Amino acid sequence: MAIQQPATRPAPKPVAVPANPRFSSGPCAKPPTFDLKKLADAPLGRSHRASEGKAKLLKAIETTREVLGVPDDYRIGIVPASDTGAYEMAMWSLLGERHAEMVAWESFGAGWVTDVVKQLKIAHTVHTADYGDIVDMAALNYDHDVCFTWNGTTSGVRMPSGDAIPADRAGLTLCDATSAAFAMDLPWDKLDVTTFSWQKVLGGEAAHGMLILSPRAVERLESYTPPWPLPKIFRLTKGGKLIEGIFTGATINTPSMLCVEDYLQALDWAKSVGGLQGLIARADANAGAIADFVAAHDWIDFLAKDPATRSNTSVCLRFTDARITDGAAFAKAVAKRLADENVALDIGAYREAPAGLRIWCGGTVETSDITAMLPWLAWAFEAEINA
Ligand SMILES: Cc1ncc(COP(=O)(O)O)c(C=O)c1O
Repeated sequence: MAIQQPATRPAPKPVAVPANPRFSSGPCAKPPTFDLKKLADAPLGRSHRASEGKAKLLKAIETTREVLGVPDDYRIGIVPASDTGAYEMAMWSLLGERHAEMVAWESFGAGWVTDVVKQLKIAHTVHTADYGDIVDMAALNYDHDVCFTWNGTTSGVRMPSGDAIPADRAGLTLCDATSAAFAMDLPWDKLDVTTFSWQKVLGGEAAHGMLILSPRAVERLESYTPPWPLPKIFRLTKGGKLIEGIFTGATINTPSMLCVEDYLQALDWAKSVGGLQGLIARADANAGAIADFVAAHDWIDFLAKDPATRSNTSVCLRFTDARITDGAAFAKAVAKRLADENVALDIGAYREAPAGLRIWCGGTVETSDITAMLPWLAWAFEAEINA
């Protein structure tokens, strides 16, 4: 009796698997050397205002300055509520003195636009671009305050450089750099407020935000009082003067010293791989491995249209095969196959972004894990298209 063959044979599974299948865009993979035991020096059960705790917080600030190359005359503070806390604290404290240019090309930037349009209700102009595109930053009025996100985590589109921002601007630039800091060169002379959170590029823990202020941002804080009430958690000044303690480790409210210890460990690891340039090279190598894969397969492409704007951290991809009828269902099914095989976790596109995949490529991810995962992506695609 003849044996019946299936119409298409299932594609064989690749042999190699990534040592670490964690490619989430936040919280992101811990540094490869991470070990919970390394956090044993955290001063748990002690006051964060005791000298030991304050010294740890100050060290976190000063090592951030060292690794990111933040100028000496910029203030760096540890604030509550992660990047969202840091960015909204800056908006609520600084905006309203002049017109605001609100810029967005994906979901997080759009959130800051909503803050201004619906909550602060100040004079503003909105500049948006679709997912995959970027706003023409040279067309903005820099006599106004400009709010933007350096790397759009949900579209994988980033600023190619800060060249479009004039050094002699009259307004302030407020930059959400949460998925850019520690992976991209940030031009400090073009940025008056920069924010990020620990849970992103360095694979730290969520909870605390970092707020970096230029001297001009401090000048604004000390000369302008917004017309709206500010909760204690947002207050950066007292009696018209900057609360300097926030920028030396005397936080507004109680921080987690376990998270601080973890961040210090991540910063140590960052220094061990060559600091900022080492981290950028690692992210570039990861994103480069994906670019090679995309170039070799005609069924997948970047969401970012212009290669100059392609992110090296949140790499967003879309399936382009004409046989796909329901893009969202297809992408979800591919991501599920990869998760079920434990070769790629959390790589579905952001819920508000176009259907596709988002693969985190920040420096804590090993290139060997990206290259081990990509044949699985080809396998999952074949399996799903033939399903
Ligand atoms: C660009 C950007 N802004 C803000 C946030 C919010 O960060 P957090 O949850 O740390 O406040 C994220 C998180 O993914 C982000 O990618």
